[in-house]
Amino acid sequence: MKFFIDTANLDEIKEMADLGIVDGVTTNPSIIAREGKDLKETLIKICNMVDGPISGEVLAMDAETMVKEGTEIASWHKNMVVKIPMTQEGIKAVGELSKKGIKTNVTTIYDAAQALIAAKAGATYVSPFVGRSDDVLMSGLAMLNQISRIFRIYNIKTEIIAASMRTPAYVIGAAEAGSDIATIPYDCMKKMFWHPMTDVSIDGFMIDWKNAMGDKKIL
Ligand code: E4P
Repeated sequence: MKFFIDTANLDEIKEMADLGIVDGVTTNPSIIAREGKDLKETLIKICNMVDGPISGEVLAMDAETMVKEGTEIASWHKNMVVKIPMTQEGIKAVGELSKKGIKTNVTTIYDAAQALIAAKAGATYVSPFVGRSDDVLMSGLAMLNQISRIFRIYNIKTEIIAASMRTPAYVIGAAEAGSDIATIPYDCMKKMFWHPMTDVSIDGFMIDWKNAMGDKKIL
């Protein structure tokens, strides 16, 4: 399973990318606004930090302007993926961008019907929002499982990015659902390193060593 990081914070991206665990980056207008920096400058910096798909979202709501914005975003770097909201106009734009060979990520997906439409239009990726589905008492992981099953039955090439991940349990759920990718916020990624028994076990090893060997070191 590939891990994308769902942030535009360069320090967060660098910290995780330096560990070799980041395959790509996703952003959205809220994420970019949180950093308060220029969109193009930020996305190009991210492209220079992570050699993988980097999603930048269009702002327009009509297909014609989405295609123009998407073409502009794609021209910024070879790894740019154009993120398009799941609307009828968005799907029109996805079709046109696909014809131009531009990669797209259809975002704000909340059910399998939307995912099928996006795949049919030629989307490179679909992003089902798991956490936000749970916010409105839908089962985000059930939706993800359904999309994953359908894509496998029909051998659909569009990759699934499990989005709106809130905790490591969501990421495990996405992996179990067979999602190709999970896009994970920095705080959630940090939590994935930790387990209380890991700390207890390491402490135990160090105490046993010290009791028997004192200050003896390897180097
Ligand atoms: C997806 O690409 C979105 O950027 C993101 O996962 C939304 O997640 P949120 O619900 O944590 O804002």
